[in-house]
Amino acid sequence: MLAEMFKLLILILALCPSAIDSSFQYFNMVEQWPGGYCQFHRCRRVPWPNDFTIHGLWPANHTGTVENCKKTGFAPIQDENKFKQLDSIWPDLDQPRPEYDTVGSRVLAQSFWGHEWKKHGTCSENMYNQTQYFDLAIKLKNRYNLLSILEQGGLSRGHSHELSDVNSTIWRTTHGTPDLKCLNDARVHRNVPVLQEIGICYRPSKNRSGQVSFSVINCPHSRTRTCYRGLGNGKIVFP
Ligand SMILES: *[C@@H]1O[C@H](CO)[C@@H](O)[C@H](O)[C@H]1NC(C)=O
Ligand SMILES: *[C@@H]1O[C@H](CO)[C@@H](O)[C@H](O)[C@H]1NC(C)=O
Ligand SMILES: *[C@@H]1O[C@H](CO)[C@@H](O)[C@H](O)[C@H]1NC(C)=O
Ligand SMILES: *[C@@H]1O[C@H](CO)[C@@H](O)[C@H](O)[C@H]1NC(C)=O
Repeated sequence: MLAEMFKLLILILALCPSAIDSSFQYFNMVEQWPGGYCQFHRCRRVPWPNDFTIHGLWPANHTGTVENCKKTGFAPIQDENKFKQLDSIWPDLDQPRPEYDTVGSRVLAQSFWGHEWKKHGTCSENMYNQTQYFDLAIKLKNRYNLLSILEQGGLSRGHSHELSDVNSTIWRTTHGTPDLKCLNDARVHRNVPVLQEIGICYRPSKNRSGQVSFSVINCPHSRTRTCYRGLGNGKIVFP
């Protein structure tokens, strides 16, 4: 009897290749829209990037994001090419464009990455060390081009759109409900919520040869409610 149950347990485990031994269940790849972010923050990065940029890659579980898991420090990125690649897709919009030529400025420019690594990256460190974490962020960011998804879906910039259209347009490509974040301010856009961030949620799963792949899931802790505040009537501005 016990042996039978044991066999059943083994069978169940074998049929669950997606089980990942980890403190988190999925990643939220959060990208920010500079045109929205910079209406509410003093962006010293001028001109603003004309594309979505990474805010962070956030490990999360069924309760919410997991944060500040370990005390592992951040080792400033030394590799010039990696630095430039990250600086273009993961810039600190609050800071001026860094000089590439001085080590001091390069290190200073990395405080945003250091913050994201310590707050979020350390929570997936059992699977991804710092180098691997930043490489994974680059890989997941490059999987979808959010700007072209929106524009090709007819959601042009400088206009307001139905929130449900924004969701379904992204969904048609990713097959997962995105995590949308808006801000609203009576002074801009007459209190219609302004798109700030889009998160795409990925669940890692291991296949039989132990390789990890990522599939998009519906974001379980969507911040989309922030896009219903104000007088938008279900519309949001894509500035
Ligand atoms: C999710 O993470 C939080 C913070 O680390 C933890 O307190 C909670 O128990 C975790 N929940 C699950 C379902 O793993
Ligand atoms: C991360 O892990 C890879 C593969 O095991 C290894 O080559 C690399 O040196 C590690 N990097 C850091 C910063 O620990
Ligand atoms: C987003 O769109 C998809 C596909 O149309 C739909 O299944 C899902 O329920 C929508 N999510 C929200 C939060 O509206
Ligand atoms: C596991 O995934 C990797 C990468 O996606 C693939 O190359 C490999 O063939 C897969 N192995 C199995 C046994 O499915």
